[in-house]
Amino acid sequence: MSGYFITLEGIDGSGKTTQAILLEKKLVTFGKKVLLTREPGGVKGAEEIRNLLVQGKRDRWSPTTETLLFFASRKHHLEKCILPALSSNTTVICDRFSDSTMVYQGGTNLELINLIKNLNELVVGLEPDLTLLIDVDPQKSLSRGLKRSTKEDRFEMFGLEFQEKARLRYQSLAKELDRFHMIDGNGGIEATHELVWKEVSDHLNLSD
Ligand code: TYD
Repeated sequence: MSGYFITLEGIDGSGKTTQAILLEKKLVTFGKKVLLTREPGGVKGAEEIRNLLVQGKRDRWSPTTETLLFFASRKHHLEKCILPALSSNTTVICDRFSDSTMVYQGGTNLELINLIKNLNELVVGLEPDLTLLIDVDPQKSLSRGLKRSTKEDRFEMFGLEFQEKARLRYQSLAKELDRFHMIDGNGGIEATHELVWKEVSDHLNLSD
């Protein structure tokens, strides 16, 4: 595949969505064809599955059912959107991808971690070229997330303790996997964008 696949990860309210938009704009100034997309969702059918996942009561799904819904949405998104874009020399920026499932659904549950690893291999079969972890203080990000007050609060309702655990899981994934790069997201939008751009421009050999 000729395109380059970048994913952004981080806990709720970490500012990764804003960073994804700024990164898209910057890459376009370098003449790159860019697709900015997100998970869960990114394309019509997958957005419909997203609504099932992010709205409603916390105990609406069992952990396994929830994991399978994320993978159903991801497979559809891959087939309809990500793979065709990567095949046509497009740089794809995806706001969350499989690492989110590992962190949020996998957690410390070994059975689910194994299921996710297997589904990644059997159903997804695609690893990002570069993953940027926007690392922020959970206290800060949670208040940011809750301030947005959308209907999509099923995961944000999990509270501070959940976000702190998710942050630690992200940090250990970042240590484990070479494609992961941790970005300090505590310093404001512009400062964080500069750190994001430094990583991406290094990887894509682009200079200002
Ligand atoms: P997102 O829209 O990225 O939320 P935010 O902008 O607040 O970061 O994602 C919605 C929620 O879905 C978010 O709380 C994280 C959760 N999620 C999972 O639990 N597993 C997954 O595999 C993905 C992609 C998201």
